[in-house]
Amino acid sequence: MTAPKGTTQLPPQLSTVAAEIDDLYMVIYWTSVISFLLIVGFMVYYVVKYRRKPGVKPLPTGHSVVMELVWTLSPLILLAYLFFAGFSTFVDSTVAPRDAIEIRVTGMQWSWVFEHPNGYVQQNELIIPAGKPVKLIMSSSDVIHSFFVPAFRIKRDVIPGMYTTMWFEATEETGDNRPLTVFCAEYCGAARGSTDGSLENDPNSNHATMLAYITVLSPEEYERRVHEGFLESQAPPPGCEDAEDPMACWGEKLHSEKGCNACHSTQPGVNAPGPSWAGLWGEQRELESGESTLVDENYVLESIRQPQAKIVRGYAGVNMPPYGERNLPQAQVDAIIAYLKTLNP
Ligand code: CUA
Repeated sequence: MTAPKGTTQLPPQLSTVAAEIDDLYMVIYWTSVISFLLIVGFMVYYVVKYRRKPGVKPLPTGHSVVMELVWTLSPLILLAYLFFAGFSTFVDSTVAPRDAIEIRVTGMQWSWVFEHPNGYVQQNELIIPAGKPVKLIMSSSDVIHSFFVPAFRIKRDVIPGMYTTMWFEATEETGDNRPLTVFCAEYCGAARGSTDGSLENDPNSNHATMLAYITVLSPEEYERRVHEGFLESQAPPPGCEDAEDPMACWGEKLHSEKGCNACHSTQPGVNAPGPSWAGLWGEQRELESGESTLVDENYVLESIRQPQAKIVRGYAGVNMPPYGERNLPQAQVDAIIAYLKTLNP
């Protein structure tokens, strides 16, 4: 997947604030280049010019009011300009227009979940309309992440226990073939390995792989797909219609689509970091509290909605994020239950 072309220094400018931010960057860049050349140039010139010579005695230099003023006022003027230009760009890029489309973003180890205004949920993929302001309302379900879209020049931390917001307006449609990459810009952990330190669990899942892809569509196409996506989230996908058990087929797809597979294997005996789903259904489970419980519909539902309510013995240190009705509608919980049943024939 490749993004549209940028320059050697910067990625393409694909949001309304990108040009403003790049202009500021270039002002600082060229100020630094010119200052460097002047300072180092004069330094070398004077080192050569005033080197020690036989018969020449160094004399004390006098005081120059003009020079004092120049080197005090010129940085002051430059800093004042940078402050005002920077602050006005900051305000432009922070305060979302009132008519912005609001999309909820949840960061978790290690994926991004997006929820559109109609309840349509996407994972690691986000469709947005071109030419319309989009406001992101972000939070984390575990540790600190940071939502970074280089092509839009936006980045903000995503923090557990609070909301942070950010907005952008995409200027160009990308189509489906060249989506823009979202990076996590806050180190949020390494792959959860087994206790001996090896990464046999899933070496491909960590901070560096916490990516998402943004596809910018025309506003009409965006509306159509968001509506369609919502309807699809309420029934088994087309590939499962002809399966012997369409619900179990859907549940198997959800296991990977929703990221359950990052922690729950479907192989018997592979229990890291979360318990395997194999051989689970209909069994008694020992809990950390000393009680035991039957794995039935209510237990599975509760474990999805409030994972900390009943903790299986030996898993006290594992924090599963809760999946609410929006994130995993009832129909999808039913599909997962149907799938669990097939894993303990
Ligand atoms: Cu999430 Cu790094």
